Amino acid sequence: MSAKTDKLLSILKLQPVVPVLVIDDAATAVPLARALVAGGLKAIEITLRTQAALEAIRAVAAEVEGAVAGAGTILNAAQFEQSVEAGSQFIVSPGTTQELIDVANDHEVPLLPGAATASEVMGLREEGYQIMKFFPAEQAGGAAYLKSLSSPLAGTLFCPTGGISLGNARDYLSLPNVVCVGGSWVAPKELVAKGDWAGITKLAAEAYALKG
Ligand code: 3PG
Repeated sequence: MSAKTDKLLSILKLQPVVPVLVIDDAATAVPLARALVAGGLKAIEITLRTQAALEAIRAVAAEVEGAVAGAGTILNAAQFEQSVEAGSQFIVSPGTTQELIDVANDHEVPLLPGAATASEVMGLREEGYQIMKFFPAEQAGGAAYLKSLSSPLAGTLFCPTGGISLGNARDYLSLPNVVCVGGSWVAPKELVAKGDWAGITKLAAEAYALKG
């Protein structure tokens, strides 16, 4: 396993669930990340889908003790570079392009690239990837589909994301080829809007308890 894969694996193994955040107001990023870390979820994916995302990554990376800030929904090399510059310690993409593979090769920050078919997984294996995001997990076939990849594509680990919640997370976490799952359910927009950080810590702690 390469040092970069090892680094990614150690981040993903911190917890059973990686929160996937869409942050509209950068001012909420630090209290939200603190609430998640207090519940045990240290590795946090902030998606580059809003204007506030890079500022949010920068703030979480600099100010939240114990947090491992990552960037999600990375679609191109420029976003990869901006996210690394903001302090991201891991990068997540919904799919894979040659441009992303090339930029990832130029950096020490690991990429968790998206794949949803056997051919996509095989292509990434040829590029040296052993850990991938299975996206969109539920819509692409769910835990049964992912389980069916475990024997022919043994050696590849996944972080399934998309449509996962407390109710179905265990279906994935019990598979031999799953290292963790990703999900937005631990940070509902209503709780963020209300500043209900205790409520978010409770959801995070429930998610953390899925471990083991
Ligand atoms: C995403 O990129 O939106 C993630 O897959 C999160 O999906 P979820 O909102 O269904 O958890």
